[in-house]
Amino acid sequence: MQSSPPGPAREQWSSRIGFVLAAAGSAIGLGNIWRFPYVTGQNGGGAFLILYLACVVLLGAPVMVAELAIGRHGRRNPVGSFEAIRPGSFWKIIGYAGVLTGVGILSYYAVMAGYTLGYIFKSLAQDATPFADFAANPLVGLPLFAVFLVLTVLVVYGGIRNGIERWSMILMPLLLALLLVLIARSVTLEGAERGLAFYLKPDFGKVTGHTIVAALGQAFFSLSLGMGAMITYGSYLSKRDNILVSGVSVALADTLIAFLAGLLIFPALFASHLDPTAGPSLVFEVLPRIFGTLPAGRFIGAAFFLLLSIAALTSTISLLEVATAYLVDEHKLSRHRSVWVVALVALLVGIPSALSFGSVPFFSKLPWIGWDFLSLMDWIFGNLMLTLGALGISVFFAWVWKTRNAALEIREGCPGFDRIAWVLDLMLKVVCPIGIVVILVFLFLNLG
Ligand code: PHE
Repeated sequence: MQSSPPGPAREQWSSRIGFVLAAAGSAIGLGNIWRFPYVTGQNGGGAFLILYLACVVLLGAPVMVAELAIGRHGRRNPVGSFEAIRPGSFWKIIGYAGVLTGVGILSYYAVMAGYTLGYIFKSLAQDATPFADFAANPLVGLPLFAVFLVLTVLVVYGGIRNGIERWSMILMPLLLALLLVLIARSVTLEGAERGLAFYLKPDFGKVTGHTIVAALGQAFFSLSLGMGAMITYGSYLSKRDNILVSGVSVALADTLIAFLAGLLIFPALFASHLDPTAGPSLVFEVLPRIFGTLPAGRFIGAAFFLLLSIAALTSTISLLEVATAYLVDEHKLSRHRSVWVVALVALLVGIPSALSFGSVPFFSKLPWIGWDFLSLMDWIFGNLMLTLGALGISVFFAWVWKTRNAALEIREGCPGFDRIAWVLDLMLKVVCPIGIVVILVFLFLNLG
């Protein structure tokens, strides 16, 4: 049995709700509101929704609990937490991979988030430039990207209670309120029922191997799993916190927001006779046209992109926090210096992504693979690395640390855990590794 390293007092969340909102803020982001609807649209609607929900329950929730337990036990960043549990072993490589993945995702995620920010003002100005032209202008994309990174830095600068927690407490409820208002508008449009049917009536004839892969990948990305974001957030939990209840609440909140995003977008889409399979441009290309048909549409549009920017910000915060915590814990850098160092690296790495929407032909269509640079980054970091990371975390938890040892950690704050420990054990030992290996095989088959 291991005990937590004594170490210096670590800053902690001030309340359970503060933690849940911050972790839900990490999970809820472009992944829910931009990515989930377009992937659902491409994969046939209702049937995808059901598969996605199954992935969240069977794979997502167990890995979520595992990450929080590893983090609270290790009381450090991902690298330090693996080292604390299995000192001197190679398992901390999962932590290093997570730190790298966080910076990798941040570098292109902040580019998309920058466009979202730009769309607030574009909507207000009723500027009708198509997304393709808007994004192809480097004088628009690069500054927006940089501004978004600076916004992220300013929040993470403040640390746990005054930065991440305080802002999440304000921003997350605002997000939910805005979403509900927009849904009320969307479902009352004429023709909205067809959108509701597409989204809520599953047609399992449309399910293919690809649908299942897409659902699994979307679940990890959306729940912020596989790169140690939840290990890092878990490291600021106190022993009184209930890891099981908090982890499940975060997964529920994330899934609820994704579900609501679908409820917003599909009725409006079908009411306007538009194509649900439009792909990544769905939000940026199609929604402004819908807003244009509404009374006071420019304000509704601006509110929507404000909502999307808020969601993205609470996610980039967690992406930045992982590498920051690593530098603070392991290299004894000050928080302020670490934050700027990581943001600078993300800025440099992200420049090709920001130039990949047509402004530089080379990055917009890479030789050999023919993808744009941002899609390549998303495939490597947002898909492959998260999937590998989640595999490593579930194997480490169930086979190396072992659920019976981890149970001693989870039981603190959750005395009833022992009765259901076997369920978590089964999930992490067998269901997750097998499920994830299946995704990886499909990922590589799709590559060909
Ligand atoms: N979960 C976030 C979203 O849905 C993205 C993210 C992935 C954040 C991994 C942190 C870690 O937008």
